[in-house]
Amino acid sequence: MMDVGRHPNVELLTYSEVEAVTGFVGNFNVTVRKKARYVDPKECNACGDCADVCPQAVPDEYQQGFSSRKAIYLPFPQAVPSSYILDMKNCLGNNPIACGKCADVCEKKCIDYDDQDELINIEVGVIIAATGMDVYDPTEYDEYGYTRFENVITSMEFERLICAGGPTAGHFIRPGDQKQPQSIGFIQCVGSRAKDGRGNPYCSNICCMNTVKDTLLLCDHYPGVETKVFYMDIRAFGKGFEDLYVRSREEGVKYIRGIPGEVMENPENQNLILTVENTTTGKIEKHELELLVLSQGVIPRQDGDTVRKLLTLSTTSDGFIMESHPKLKPVDAPTKGVFIAGCLESPKDVKDSVTQASAAAARASILLNAGKTKIEAITSKIVAEKCNFCGLCSRVCPYNAILASDKKTKKLPIVISAACAGCGACAAECPQDCIVMNHFTDAQIMAQVEAILAKDPYKQLVTFACNWCSYAGGDMAGTSRLQYPTSSRLIRTMCSGRVDEKFVLHAFKLGAPMVLVSGCHFADCHYINAVHWTQKRMDKLWNKIEKLGIRVDRLQLEWISAAEGQKFARVMRNLEEKVKQVTVEEIEETMKVLREEEKKEKKE
Ligand code: FES
Repeated sequence: MMDVGRHPNVELLTYSEVEAVTGFVGNFNVTVRKKARYVDPKECNACGDCADVCPQAVPDEYQQGFSSRKAIYLPFPQAVPSSYILDMKNCLGNNPIACGKCADVCEKKCIDYDDQDELINIEVGVIIAATGMDVYDPTEYDEYGYTRFENVITSMEFERLICAGGPTAGHFIRPGDQKQPQSIGFIQCVGSRAKDGRGNPYCSNICCMNTVKDTLLLCDHYPGVETKVFYMDIRAFGKGFEDLYVRSREEGVKYIRGIPGEVMENPENQNLILTVENTTTGKIEKHELELLVLSQGVIPRQDGDTVRKLLTLSTTSDGFIMESHPKLKPVDAPTKGVFIAGCLESPKDVKDSVTQASAAAARASILLNAGKTKIEAITSKIVAEKCNFCGLCSRVCPYNAILASDKKTKKLPIVISAACAGCGACAAECPQDCIVMNHFTDAQIMAQVEAILAKDPYKQLVTFACNWCSYAGGDMAGTSRLQYPTSSRLIRTMCSGRVDEKFVLHAFKLGAPMVLVSGCHFADCHYINAVHWTQKRMDKLWNKIEKLGIRVDRLQLEWISAAEGQKFARVMRNLEEKVKQVTVEEIEETMKVLREEEKKEKKE
């Protein structure tokens, strides 16, 4: 951090928040709020005289609340810049000044009670988001007694207690009676790999090795302390990690396979009694420990939604930010010119975070050095003559890539090709058909529908599949040699958001017994939230065909991911059965109704 702060090419804005991001790759405009520090960081030499006289003490967040700080304080010892901050919420008041002791004692006169937040605008070509993560709050697991017993702590609290810069200057004591514990237990996977509705279903990646590291610290600093780890599996993959795990066992740390079901406290000595089924021996065991550490999992940042909205990113089902492509573009965000690194993307350790950050910096510098960027071939364009200035296209676009039209001034919408990712949601939604999606034009897709239904139309299952998930799911079914009916005819679109209602109606008009629209699961859409438009459009379409007297279950919607080859084959087999149930009379009636409807629309 110090190196970054001193680097001539880096402007470091600490204690600041991004308020708005506008523009697109190469032309981002970022509004940053520099919060008022009330202390001039250039003048402050962190002597600490101000904090010494400050009468207001509050729990120190950095020390996990084990010690207190003053209202004027240094956020943490390695803070850059190394300057104090006045926490105005806890100050006795500056208007009028109720105390003023810190300003009186400051020799450098660097305290300014009139300091104000400052909004600054920065123009940048690319953005790297690395906003980190939060840790799981274990209060949900009441059986571990975190809220009831003082000697049950979290792994973050453990870090502070054993740190030389911590509240006890590295003297490891238990909170209940300030005595050095002689037996310590760790419970793994608190809030991770949970299947009971509490916590998260994913593995938090870092907790096993963090605990192994903690046990080795205890062995080094406090030889003779009995240490036990309660676990499901120890995941020690990675360079040197298995060696550390083996060393921990050799040092005498006991690894017990089983997660405790109950933690009780012995009121006489505040020791904790854990009841656990040892799944290796199959026996129920009781363990008495003087301190218990809950190895809490990693969760997406609580304010992650703000970052997501600011940068028009999308999230996976677990709430972490989704990369553009898991194998080919793992540090690119779906929004061009935005890159991601660290635990914002998924739980990872320091080494992986640094690797990913280096990759993101390299990817960003490629763009910056080139000074220009290639525009995707699949982008939309406006046909000016047809536009009625409704503005729907700019509202639909998940990337804010369409500058809104204006009815009064007759200003046409403008597609910023550099920002357009090619989902096609705008083209599907435009009521005037005035948006052409290059390479996935209406004419091209209609021609595919016609080709499929040119022969034996009453037997075909017309399927619109999004490129990234459903189509890849079909591929997966194929490469896995899973059988599915040959009547399944796929039309690929980049996103299910591209499937226009007229494609579906055209298929029915040409005699299709069933139509399937298939896309990524909601959180997995590769075009941020374009899939929401698919759902909305389908709801409208079901209503419409119902009014026309067409059976609604002849139009199906399925979310199939790239890994769900099995599901793809199963859906196709089920729908093949439904295809057989649609009678020729029913299909012909539908065709007649839709032809009449078309005639009516043409007249209007
Ligand atoms: Fe698959 Fe949007 S990319 S539904």
